[in-house]
Amino acid sequence: MPLEEYFAINGGNELFGKVELHGAKNAVLPMLAAGLLTKEEVVVKDCPYITDVSNMGRLLAEVGANVLFDGRNIRVRGQACKGALSHELEKVMRSSMFMLGVLIATVGEVKLSLPGGCKIGARPLDIHLDGLSKLGAVCEEKDGVVFCHAKKLKGAKILMRYPSVGATENLLMASVLAEGKTTLVNCAREPEIISLVELLRKMGAKISGEGTSVIEIDGVKELGGATVKPIADRIVAGTYLGALAVCGGELVLNGIGKNDVRSTLFAFQNRDFQVYDDGLSLRARATRRKRYDELSEQLACDVITGPYPLFATDMQPVVCAVKCFADGVSRVKETVFENRFSHLFEMKKLGADVVIDKDTALIRRGDLYPGDMIAKDLRGGAGLSVFAMGIKGESRVYGAKYVDRGYENFEENFKNIGCDIRREPVKKC
Ligand code: UD1
Repeated sequence: MPLEEYFAINGGNELFGKVELHGAKNAVLPMLAAGLLTKEEVVVKDCPYITDVSNMGRLLAEVGANVLFDGRNIRVRGQACKGALSHELEKVMRSSMFMLGVLIATVGEVKLSLPGGCKIGARPLDIHLDGLSKLGAVCEEKDGVVFCHAKKLKGAKILMRYPSVGATENLLMASVLAEGKTTLVNCAREPEIISLVELLRKMGAKISGEGTSVIEIDGVKELGGATVKPIADRIVAGTYLGALAVCGGELVLNGIGKNDVRSTLFAFQNRDFQVYDDGLSLRARATRRKRYDELSEQLACDVITGPYPLFATDMQPVVCAVKCFADGVSRVKETVFENRFSHLFEMKKLGADVVIDKDTALIRRGDLYPGDMIAKDLRGGAGLSVFAMGIKGESRVYGAKYVDRGYENFEENFKNIGCDIRREPVKKC
């Protein structure tokens, strides 16, 4: 992906104002794929305007669905009619993996190039393919292309070797139309999975146990249309909270509660950071301290990422950014993806005191100065931006396109709450 645009961020401003949160990217993407499971219309409300979502719409259209972007509502109508994806999108979008489950269940075959996405790890599909094989599909993987076919899917007991979010969702979508009962064991328990099950159930699927590690599905003959409002994006919310923790100020996040961002709040907790929740929105206040260039004071903390309810790996880069402003030593261990510290090397260039030992980073406040950083993935780009917001003077975060995959109007929304940020094109020599 080219680094055609960057964010120029003049850090040091306090942040004040209201932020509207919309549907979570990671809930919306599988929901859109689920729209292929019925001929009737599926409406996913409150979708964010981000490139991953628009690209997903294009993927669905490619296999034959009618996709209408009706403001924030996306209407998917019509079952898929082909299982081969030719579009270049499938290579750059990890979410093309959701096509596996729905296309096997409806068209009976699927051929797709191994999905791309963030450069944060190898991200194989073995758990997805193993599960589909247990449902009766024949799956082959050769030269980066996956080919699966099945005459009929039959319910089975599937034990996943790891609680993969995508595999849990894929296998759910494949088994709702399979004959008989499917039991998924060692499932991921993320809130986005519960949100997807809400949609599938509205469509007529018979599912129980979502949010626990065992999900049971009784296959039905067909599914109907439905309308759903996905849960709000807890990672986007956590990114605003991270920026607030660093910059100080007061923000109201509409559409999310304290409980949705529990572990993130735990990582930012200190006497300067106060959070109130009225059930519909979350109000957070971070008081500045004179002795740190008037930034909010940060406390060190230990974070270990892992499957929900452990700390979300997608929040890790933002937490690292925040902890670069803390006095004590924070210990951040990444257990989900094997290559998710690239942002730390960029932060080090700007003075962050970071030592990385395999999957663990030791982070503490260094002598920070503004400069240039290169984002290599979506959440890393958000983390670098939050880091730059805490440093006085102008920094540049290259790779705005990565951030656009998951954050709606990133610079506009941060500008609206007081951040000095603008998007600039990279000048070609
Ligand atoms: C989803 C999220 C992503 C988040 C991740 C972990 C979406 C669209 N994306 O990604 O934002 O960072 O969960 O919370 O919801 N693995 C295998 N084999 C497999 C599948 C996964 O080895 O067949 C490994 C992966 O390489 C990774 C770990 O399992 O190391 C977790 O991956 P998984 O939970 O599947 O993440 P995604 O669903 O891809």
